[in-house]
Parts: sequence; C-alpha cells; structure tokens
Amino acid sequence: MMRTARLIATSAAALALAGCYGPQSALAPRGDEAERVHTLFWVMTIGGGVIFLGVLIVAALAIFGRGRVREWIASPRTIFGAGLVFPAATLTVLLAYGLLVMAARAPAPDGAVFARISGEQWWWRVTYVLPDGREVESANELRIPVGQPVALALETADVIHSFWVPQLAGKLDMIPGRTNVLTLHATSAGISRGQCAEYCGGAHAFMAFHVVAMPPEAFSAWLEQEAGPARVAAADGQAEGYRIFDGLGCGGCHSIRGTSARGSIGPDLTHVGGRLSLAAATLPNTAEAFASWITDNQHIKPENRMPAYQVLAEDELVTLSRYLESLE
Ligand code: CUA
Repeated sequence: MMRTARLIATSAAALALAGCYGPQSALAPRGDEAERVHTLFWVMTIGGGVIFLGVLIVAALAIFGRGRVREWIASPRTIFGAGLVFPAATLTVLLAYGLLVMAARAPAPDGAVFARISGEQWWWRVTYVLPDGREVESANELRIPVGQPVALALETADVIHSFWVPQLAGKLDMIPGRTNVLTLHATSAGISRGQCAEYCGGAHAFMAFHVVAMPPEAFSAWLEQEAGPARVAAADGQAEGYRIFDGLGCGGCHSIRGTSARGSIGPDLTHVGGRLSLAAATLPNTAEAFASWITDNQHIKPENRMPAYQVLAEDELVTLSRYLESLE
C-alpha cells in the first residue's frame, strides 16, 4: 500500500515537473532575456522559501519555545529589526535587482526592425523586413537566427494581444495605435512555442505560434526561399487545386505569392505547407487538417472570421487540401 502511494506520488511529481520543461516553459530558457528572467525566478523563489521557513521557525518558537526565547521574540528590538528593518531592506534589494534585470534588456540592434508582428483575432501576421527593404509576409510562425539579437515591432490590428515566448523573453503587450519593440536573442537552436498572453476574445486560447531559432546560414537560406513565390507547379493557376481555391474566392482573403490570390484579410498562404502547424498552432500541418479547417473551422476556432466551406464535393476538398499542403 505504502509502495503504491509512493509510486503514485513520485509519478505525479515527475509529471508535474516534466510540464515545467516543455517548449513553452520559462524554466527552460533558450534566450538571453529568458535566462535573466529564469535567474530572477529562482532568486525570488529560493529567497522567499528561506524567509518563509524562518518565519515558521520563529512562529514555532513563539508558541513552543522556552521563556527566554519567547521574551527575545517579543522584545521591541526584535520586532523593530525583524518586522520593519529586515523586510524594508530585503524588498529594497529585490526591487533594485529587479530593476537591473529589466534595464539589462537587450536594446534593438542598430534600430533595425527584423520583423513586424501583428496580433489579429486569433492569429499572428508576421512580416519580415529584409535589410534591402523588401517585406515578406508570413503567419503564425517566426524564424530567427541563433546568436543575433532581432528586434520585433509588435502591433495589433484589433484588440490588445500579448506576445509571449517564455523560452526566449518576457511578454510584451500589443496595443492598438502603438508599436512596442521586443528584442529576441536566441542562444541555442530549437523550436519554442509562444502563446497570446492577454485575453482577446473567445478563441484567445487558440492563439499560439512557434518560434524556430536556426543557425544563421540555414536561416538566410530559409528566408531567401520564404521571400520567393510558392514553389509548386500547381501554383501557375492551371492546376486543379488552385482552380478550386480561386473558384471559392479564397484569394479575396488570402495571398499566395506567384498567383493572383492577393487577399490580405487572412493569413498569407504562400508557404503554408512548410509551417509547423495550422490555424495558429491549433492543428497539425497535414492535408486532413486543412480539410477539417476548411469545412469545420467554426468548431475548431469559434467565431474566427473565416466562414466554414461545406459546399465542396469530397474529392474537391481532398484536392484543395493537398494543394495547400504542398505550398512549401
Ligand atoms: Cu490574442 Cu489573446
């Protein structure tokens, strides 16, 4: 019986801790700012724990201690020292430390914006600003080079959202009429998950994204490809998949560079098949998931601005979904 209980307790603790170290955890930092936040967290947690333990010991002594100990605890000097001077000094030191951590936030490198990210109900518009001035639109995924600080201009198209990738940096709100700048500086390659951290309407919980930190050369090659048009033969407008896409009027809201689809209301789909997920990290990136999204998106993400298209015959839906998935 005892062994079973211990096993359950150990497994539960292991599971809970495992949850602390996933791709969306501030306790598994991969970036400069996140590392400072991580250190701040442990200083606060351990410091707070030690002080809490001290208070418990003093409380126990005050109740169960011998006469002289209780007298010492009750003396005006102890009360003044431990009740007034100690907390004031501790909080002052912590405040100074917290302000130093905030001040150490990496400034935007030479003021250049790496990408603009706009929060929209309920997805992320990502526009890379290339050094030569070209702008490349993408959505729901950000790729960055490792080891280089990159400045993100955070904006919103509607309500307040909050951009948060716990493994890379603290959160920063996206406020109507304002541009907030957040610098990310990834220290190792890998995939981190981010999440909108400000309630922004019904499907707020389905507003996530991925940040992929890549070695600089791999990133440059990727960005060059991302800047180009969709790479499928089908995208020339002749293929059946694109014909269905065009016939449904999808191009009124979505863009596919290299075709006549130039809509800008919804996410750019030029290289949608190459992303890690669909619908702002809500669905896996598969042809089946495209089909579910097209026919049933109001159940998947209630009240999103795309209507559900249930007018397609089964084979048309499959063709359209495969076409979208092939856009890499
Ligand atoms: Cu966007 Cu919550």
